[in-house]
Amino acid sequence: MGDILGRSLRLISFGESHGKLIGAVLEGVPAGLPLAEEDIQRILDLRRPGQSKYVTQRHESDRVEIVSGIFRGYTTGAPLTMIVRNEDVVSSYYEEFRRKPRPGHADYIARLKYGGFNDYRGGGRFSGRITISMCMAGSVAMKLLETLKVEVIAYSLEIGGERAKEFTLEEAKSYRYSNPLRAPNKESYLRMSSAIDRAEGDSVGGIVEAVALKVPPGLGDPIFDTIEGDISKAMFSIPAVKGVEFGSGFRAARMKGSEHNDPLILKNGKISYLKNDHGGVIGGITTGEPVVVRTAFKPTASIAKPQRTVDLEEMKETEIKVKGRHDPCIVPRAVVVVESMLAFILADHAIRAGLISSILR
Ligand SMILES: Cc1cc2nc3c(=O)[nH]c(=O)nc-3n(C[C@H](O)[C@H](O)[C@H](O)COP(=O)(O)O)c2cc1C
Repeated sequence: MGDILGRSLRLISFGESHGKLIGAVLEGVPAGLPLAEEDIQRILDLRRPGQSKYVTQRHESDRVEIVSGIFRGYTTGAPLTMIVRNEDVVSSYYEEFRRKPRPGHADYIARLKYGGFNDYRGGGRFSGRITISMCMAGSVAMKLLETLKVEVIAYSLEIGGERAKEFTLEEAKSYRYSNPLRAPNKESYLRMSSAIDRAEGDSVGGIVEAVALKVPPGLGDPIFDTIEGDISKAMFSIPAVKGVEFGSGFRAARMKGSEHNDPLILKNGKISYLKNDHGGVIGGITTGEPVVVRTAFKPTASIAKPQRTVDLEEMKETEIKVKGRHDPCIVPRAVVVVESMLAFILADHAIRAGLISSILR
């Protein structure tokens, strides 16, 4: 499996959905970063299930324990290990999925790849619960980025086809975590929530937009370690992601060069850009403009409606109606995961570029 992400800052993710625990080891964290369990808990709480009718009713306290890498409130430079124990585990439904794989989920393909030895309970390593390790890494990355005054803000841009409009980044920053759908303003929250309500037993997808502010120019190492490439890889490691775009993204394909090019200008004697269709990245390197990345999530695979599948024991076509506790839309819980993954890649590249040193004072 590929459970390691990053180069100078490395995340090793471990654990399964219905196993004992989920955890992360972070290697390469500079010494001297003030860090408490509350710093990590604050981020994990934004991802936690069971907090509204729009997410799975699995009830987990998701209390983090730091088990290595901290001494007297500061990181030591040694591997930082963080764990969360699984509490509310109901594995009975997954026996059926083993026999009748859920369409759209990894039940069948994982069985094929690992010869049936994989822990399939709760989706095992293919569960959304694995994103706990991403949030653990993200919470530390965000603290590292604070030393450079870099800020990462994500929110639900679209849910069930309802796209947010007429909001400012300031509005999104203060409103997103005060509503269960992580919408950037109240008007879009109301439209998005009725899109989920209308789905009735079905699921919906959506788009998370993330903006990173005050990113230093020069992050990214062409040609194979571009910042876009590394951010995309991190985003595609989040389960249910189907697309990633930067700046104008796929819209660029329908624009003229004269429209798309961002003119270089002088602002208070400094080189700047008139607009930001390039999404903060040119040539695979950050330009100093905000990094703008949008991540598309598919509708949740596990739905209560009947769907065609195959009974693998009888080798007969059959139907499945998925029981159990599932997110009707993944987007709201994924917002902080996207924020975490973007922060992690920026922190890794900032360390590589020598902007964050190995001892913080
Ligand atoms: C935060 C989060 C929660 C998720 N919750 C569910 C869920 O409740 N039910 C489900 O079928 N898939 C859920 N998923 C998505 C599956 O894990 C994912 O679709 C599956 O592993 C197959 O991988 P793929 O969609 O990336 O191809 C969730 C994903 C995330 C990021």
